[in-house]
Amino acid sequence: MARVLEGTTALVTGASSGIGAATAAALASQGAAVALAARRKDRLEELAAEIRAQGGTALVLESDITREAEATAAVERTVAELGRLDTLINNAGLMLLGPAADAPLDEWQRMVELNVLGLLYCAHAAIPHLQRAAEDGPRHVADMVNISSVAGRHARNGNGVYSLTKFGVGAFSESLRQELAKRYVRISLVEPGATATELATHNRPVVLESIRSQFGQRMDAGDIADAISYIVTRPRHVAVNEMLIRPTEQER
Ligand SMILES: NC(=O)c1ccc[n+]([C@@H]2O[C@H](COP(=O)([O-])OP(=O)(O)OC[C@H]3O[C@@H](n4cnc5c(N)ncnc54)[C@H](OP(=O)(O)O)[C@@H]3O)[C@@H](O)[C@H]2O)c1
Repeated sequence: MARVLEGTTALVTGASSGIGAATAAALASQGAAVALAARRKDRLEELAAEIRAQGGTALVLESDITREAEATAAVERTVAELGRLDTLINNAGLMLLGPAADAPLDEWQRMVELNVLGLLYCAHAAIPHLQRAAEDGPRHVADMVNISSVAGRHARNGNGVYSLTKFGVGAFSESLRQELAKRYVRISLVEPGATATELATHNRPVVLESIRSQFGQRMDAGDIADAISYIVTRPRHVAVNEMLIRPTEQER
Protein backbone atom coordinates (compact mmCIF):
# COMPACT_ATOMS: atom_id res chain seq x y z
CA MET A 1 0.00 0.00 0.00
CA ALA A 2 1.30 3.48 -0.86
CA ARG A 3 2.39 5.41 2.19
CA VAL A 4 0.57 8.69 2.65
CA LEU A 5 3.62 10.96 2.93
CA GLU A 6 5.57 9.42 0.04
CA GLY A 7 7.26 12.14 -2.01
CA THR A 8 6.99 14.75 0.74
CA THR A 9 9.62 16.27 3.02
CA ALA A 10 9.24 17.09 6.72
CA LEU A 11 11.47 19.18 8.96
CA VAL A 12 11.33 18.35 12.68
CA THR A 13 12.96 20.68 15.19
CA GLY A 14 14.17 19.17 18.44
CA ALA A 15 14.59 15.80 16.73
CA SER A 16 17.46 14.64 18.95
CA SER A 17 15.23 13.35 21.77
CA GLY A 18 11.73 12.81 23.08
CA ILE A 19 8.71 13.81 21.05
CA GLY A 20 10.74 15.19 18.13
CA ALA A 21 12.77 12.00 17.66
CA ALA A 22 9.66 9.82 17.85
CA THR A 23 7.82 12.09 15.42
CA ALA A 24 10.62 12.09 12.87
CA ALA A 25 10.68 8.28 12.94
CA ALA A 26 6.88 8.15 12.60
CA LEU A 27 6.82 10.52 9.61
CA ALA A 28 9.66 8.61 7.94
CA SER A 29 7.67 5.39 8.35
CA GLN A 30 4.82 7.12 6.46
CA GLY A 31 7.23 7.76 3.59
CA ALA A 32 8.38 11.34 4.27
CA ALA A 33 12.00 12.32 3.79
CA VAL A 34 12.89 13.90 7.13
CA ALA A 35 15.24 16.70 8.09
CA LEU A 36 16.33 16.44 11.72
CA ALA A 37 17.27 19.69 13.48
CA ALA A 38 18.78 20.09 16.97
CA ARG A 39 22.11 20.93 18.60
CA ARG A 40 23.28 17.39 19.51
CA LYS A 41 24.61 16.11 16.20
CA ASP A 42 25.56 12.66 17.51
CA ARG A 43 21.97 11.97 18.57
CA LEU A 44 20.68 13.14 15.21
CA GLU A 45 23.19 10.92 13.38
CA GLU A 46 21.98 7.90 15.39
CA LEU A 47 18.37 8.57 14.51
CA ALA A 48 19.24 9.23 10.86
CA ALA A 49 21.06 5.87 10.71
CA GLU A 50 17.98 4.10 12.13
CA ILE A 51 15.71 5.79 9.57
CA ARG A 52 18.06 4.95 6.70
CA ALA A 53 18.30 1.33 7.90
CA GLN A 54 14.51 1.16 7.43
CA GLY A 55 14.89 2.44 3.86
CA GLY A 56 14.05 6.05 4.68
CA THR A 57 15.75 9.35 3.86
CA ALA A 58 17.12 11.54 6.64
CA LEU A 59 19.14 14.76 6.67
CA VAL A 60 21.01 15.84 9.80
CA LEU A 61 20.94 19.57 10.55
CA GLU A 62 23.04 20.60 13.52
CA SER A 63 21.24 23.82 14.42
CA ASP A 64 20.61 26.09 17.35
CA ILE A 65 17.27 27.53 16.29
CA THR A 66 17.46 30.36 18.83
CA ARG A 67 19.89 31.88 16.33
CA GLU A 68 17.85 33.29 13.50
CA ALA A 69 20.46 32.51 10.87
CA GLU A 70 20.68 28.86 11.95
CA ALA A 71 16.90 28.46 12.04
CA THR A 72 16.59 29.93 8.55
CA ALA A 73 19.50 27.82 7.31
CA ALA A 74 17.82 24.66 8.64
CA VAL A 75 14.75 25.42 6.54
CA GLU A 76 16.74 26.43 3.46
CA ARG A 77 19.04 23.38 3.66
CA THR A 78 16.00 21.10 3.91
CA VAL A 79 14.64 22.55 0.68
CA ALA A 80 18.04 22.60 -1.05
CA GLU A 81 19.00 19.04 -0.12
CA LEU A 82 15.64 17.25 0.05
CA GLY A 83 13.97 19.24 -2.70
CA ARG A 84 10.98 20.72 -0.94
CA LEU A 85 9.22 21.33 2.38
CA ASP A 86 5.69 20.01 2.93
CA THR A 87 5.62 19.63 6.70
CA LEU A 88 7.19 21.60 9.54
CA ILE A 89 7.01 20.21 13.06
CA ASN A 90 7.86 23.08 15.41
CA ASN A 91 8.71 20.91 18.40
CA ALA A 92 11.95 22.11 20.05
CA GLY A 93 11.17 23.46 23.49
CA LEU A 94 12.41 24.06 26.99
CA MET A 95 10.48 23.96 30.29
CA LEU A 96 12.14 25.59 33.28
CA LEU A 97 9.79 25.77 36.24
CA GLY A 98 9.76 27.22 39.76
CA PRO A 99 8.62 30.34 41.58
CA ALA A 100 8.93 33.62 39.70
CA ALA A 101 10.35 35.36 42.75
CA ASP A 102 14.13 35.09 42.56
CA ALA A 103 14.01 32.95 39.40
CA PRO A 104 17.23 33.21 37.39
CA LEU A 105 16.34 35.62 34.60
CA ASP A 106 18.40 33.69 32.11
CA GLU A 107 15.93 30.78 32.44
CA TRP A 108 13.11 33.05 31.30
CA GLN A 109 15.24 34.38 28.47
CA ARG A 110 16.15 30.88 27.28
CA MET A 111 12.49 29.77 27.21
CA VAL A 112 11.36 32.84 25.29
CA GLU A 113 14.30 32.52 22.89
CA LEU A 114 13.53 28.88 22.08
CA ASN A 115 9.79 28.34 22.61
CA VAL A 116 8.77 31.64 21.04
CA LEU A 117 11.52 33.16 18.90
CA GLY A 118 13.02 29.87 17.69
CA LEU A 119 9.58 28.68 16.63
CA LEU A 120 8.87 31.99 14.91
CA TYR A 121 12.16 31.98 12.99
CA CYS A 122 11.40 28.49 11.66
CA ALA A 123 7.80 29.34 10.86
CA HIS A 124 8.78 32.54 9.04
CA ALA A 125 11.39 30.82 6.91
CA ALA A 126 9.08 27.88 6.16
CA ILE A 127 5.86 29.66 5.16
CA PRO A 128 6.80 30.40 1.52
CA HIS A 129 7.93 26.80 1.02
CA LEU A 130 4.78 25.41 2.63
CA GLN A 131 2.67 27.62 0.38
CA ARG A 132 4.55 26.30 -2.64
CA ALA A 133 4.08 22.70 -1.47
CA ALA A 134 0.35 23.28 -1.07
CA GLU A 135 0.19 24.68 -4.61
CA ASP A 136 2.21 22.11 -6.51
CA GLY A 137 3.24 19.35 -4.09
CA PRO A 138 2.22 15.71 -4.29
CA ARG A 139 -0.58 16.13 -1.73
CA HIS A 140 -1.63 19.71 -2.60
CA VAL A 141 -1.67 20.46 1.09
CA ALA A 142 1.05 21.42 3.58
CA ASP A 143 1.28 21.28 7.37
CA MET A 144 2.82 23.21 10.21
CA VAL A 145 2.35 21.52 13.58
CA ASN A 146 3.22 23.66 16.57
CA ILE A 147 3.84 21.88 19.85
CA SER A 148 2.32 23.67 22.79
CA SER A 149 1.32 22.00 26.08
CA VAL A 150 -1.48 21.64 28.58
CA ALA A 151 0.42 24.60 30.07
CA GLY A 152 -0.62 26.53 26.95
CA ARG A 153 -4.21 26.31 28.17
CA HIS A 154 -3.81 26.44 31.95
CA ALA A 155 -1.32 28.58 33.84
CA ARG A 156 -0.35 27.19 37.22
CA ASN A 157 1.67 28.30 40.20
CA GLY A 158 5.31 27.73 39.24
CA ASN A 159 4.96 27.51 35.46
CA GLY A 160 4.32 31.17 34.61
CA VAL A 161 6.92 31.83 31.94
CA TYR A 162 6.69 28.36 30.37
CA SER A 163 2.92 28.91 30.17
CA LEU A 164 3.44 32.38 28.75
CA THR A 165 5.48 30.94 25.89
CA LYS A 166 2.97 28.17 25.17
CA PHE A 167 -0.07 30.49 25.34
CA GLY A 168 1.80 32.57 22.78
CA VAL A 169 2.34 29.57 20.54
CA GLY A 170 -1.42 28.93 20.68
CA ALA A 171 -2.29 32.51 19.75
CA PHE A 172 0.18 32.63 16.87
CA SER A 173 -1.01 29.27 15.57
CA GLU A 174 -4.68 30.26 15.52
CA SER A 175 -3.94 33.54 13.75
CA LEU A 176 -1.74 31.86 11.17
CA ARG A 177 -4.32 29.11 10.69
CA GLN A 178 -6.90 31.70 9.65
CA GLU A 179 -4.42 33.48 7.38
CA LEU A 180 -3.38 30.37 5.47
CA ALA A 181 -6.53 28.21 5.56
CA LYS A 182 -7.57 28.98 1.98
CA ARG A 183 -4.03 28.38 0.76
CA TYR A 184 -4.24 24.79 2.06
CA VAL A 185 -1.42 25.29 4.53
CA ARG A 186 -2.86 23.70 7.67
CA ILE A 187 -1.65 24.98 11.02
CA SER A 188 -2.22 22.62 13.93
CA LEU A 189 -1.63 22.98 17.64
CA VAL A 190 -0.74 19.94 19.77
CA GLU A 191 -0.99 20.27 23.54
CA PRO A 192 0.54 17.29 25.31
CA GLY A 193 0.19 16.51 28.99
CA ALA A 194 2.90 14.71 30.95
CA THR A 195 5.14 12.74 28.62
CA ALA A 196 8.28 10.81 29.57
CA THR A 197 11.13 12.69 27.86
CA GLU A 198 14.21 14.69 28.86
CA LEU A 199 12.16 17.89 29.21
CA ALA A 200 11.99 18.12 33.02
CA THR A 201 15.64 17.14 33.50
CA HIS A 202 16.87 20.61 32.51
CA ASN A 203 15.44 22.13 35.70
CA ARG A 204 17.63 23.15 38.64
CA PRO A 205 17.97 20.33 41.24
CA VAL A 206 15.86 22.20 43.77
CA VAL A 207 13.04 22.61 41.24
CA LEU A 208 13.42 19.05 40.01
CA GLU A 209 13.06 17.80 43.56
CA SER A 210 9.84 19.75 44.07
CA ILE A 211 8.24 18.70 40.77
CA ARG A 212 9.30 15.06 41.03
CA SER A 213 6.64 14.46 43.67
CA GLN A 214 4.00 15.68 41.20
CA PHE A 215 4.97 13.16 38.52
CA GLY A 216 2.07 10.82 37.96
CA GLN A 217 1.19 8.75 34.93
CA ARG A 218 3.12 9.76 31.82
CA MET A 219 2.68 9.10 28.14
CA ASP A 220 5.45 7.95 25.83
CA ALA A 221 6.91 10.22 23.18
CA GLY A 222 5.47 7.75 20.68
CA ASP A 223 1.94 8.53 21.87
CA ILE A 224 2.37 12.16 20.83
CA ALA A 225 4.14 11.16 17.62
CA ASP A 226 1.06 9.06 16.78
CA ALA A 227 -1.15 12.13 17.19
CA ILE A 228 1.12 14.28 15.02
CA SER A 229 1.28 11.56 12.41
CA TYR A 230 -2.53 11.39 12.41
CA ILE A 231 -2.79 15.16 11.90
CA VAL A 232 -0.44 15.38 8.93
CA THR A 233 -1.85 12.32 7.14
CA ARG A 234 -5.45 13.62 6.97
CA PRO A 235 -6.91 14.12 3.52
CA ARG A 236 -6.61 17.58 2.00
CA HIS A 237 -10.07 18.77 3.06
CA VAL A 238 -9.63 17.87 6.75
CA ALA A 239 -7.66 20.07 9.15
CA VAL A 240 -7.14 19.03 12.76
CA ASN A 241 -6.75 22.47 14.30
CA GLU A 242 -5.99 21.54 17.87
CA MET A 243 -5.32 18.42 19.90
CA LEU A 244 -5.09 18.25 23.72
CA ILE A 245 -3.71 14.91 24.88
CA ARG A 246 -3.30 13.87 28.49
CA PRO A 247 -2.36 10.62 30.19
CA THR A 248 -5.67 9.12 31.23
CA GLU A 249 -5.09 9.73 34.94
CA GLN A 250 -3.93 13.36 34.58
CA GLU A 251 -6.71 15.55 35.96
CA ARG A 252 -5.39 19.08 35.33
N1 LIG B 1 7.44 16.05 27.85
C1 LIG B 1 6.32 16.64 28.21
O1 LIG B 1 5.71 16.29 29.25
C2 LIG B 1 5.72 17.74 27.37
C3 LIG B 1 4.44 18.18 27.67
C4 LIG B 1 3.91 19.23 26.93
C5 LIG B 1 4.62 19.80 25.91
N2 LIG B 1 5.87 19.35 25.62
C6 LIG B 1 6.61 20.02 24.53
O2 LIG B 1 7.09 19.05 23.64
C7 LIG B 1 8.22 19.59 22.94
C8 LIG B 1 9.32 18.54 22.91
O3 LIG B 1 9.81 18.33 24.20
P1 LIG B 1 10.20 16.90 24.78
O4 LIG B 1 9.26 16.61 25.88
O5 LIG B 1 10.37 15.93 23.70
O6 LIG B 1 11.60 17.28 25.49
P2 LIG B 1 13.11 16.94 25.18
O7 LIG B 1 13.32 15.46 25.16
O8 LIG B 1 13.90 17.75 26.16
O9 LIG B 1 13.34 17.51 23.70
C9 LIG B 1 13.60 18.87 23.45
C10 LIG B 1 14.26 18.98 22.09
O10 LIG B 1 14.51 20.36 21.81
C11 LIG B 1 15.83 20.47 21.31
N3 LIG B 1 16.39 21.79 21.54
C12 LIG B 1 16.65 22.38 22.73
N4 LIG B 1 17.23 23.58 22.53
C13 LIG B 1 17.36 23.72 21.19
C14 LIG B 1 17.91 24.74 20.36
N5 LIG B 1 18.42 25.87 20.89
N6 LIG B 1 17.90 24.57 19.03
C15 LIG B 1 17.39 23.43 18.49
N7 LIG B 1 16.84 22.45 19.21
C16 LIG B 1 16.84 22.59 20.55
C17 LIG B 1 16.61 19.40 22.05
O11 LIG B 1 17.77 19.03 21.31
P3 LIG B 1 19.27 19.54 21.59
O12 LIG B 1 19.43 19.64 23.07
O13 LIG B 1 20.09 18.44 20.96
O14 LIG B 1 19.40 20.83 20.87
C18 LIG B 1 15.60 18.26 22.03
O15 LIG B 1 15.70 17.54 20.84
C19 LIG B 1 8.58 20.88 23.66
O16 LIG B 1 8.10 21.98 22.91
C20 LIG B 1 7.84 20.78 24.97
O17 LIG B 1 7.53 22.04 25.52
C21 LIG B 1 6.44 18.32 26.31
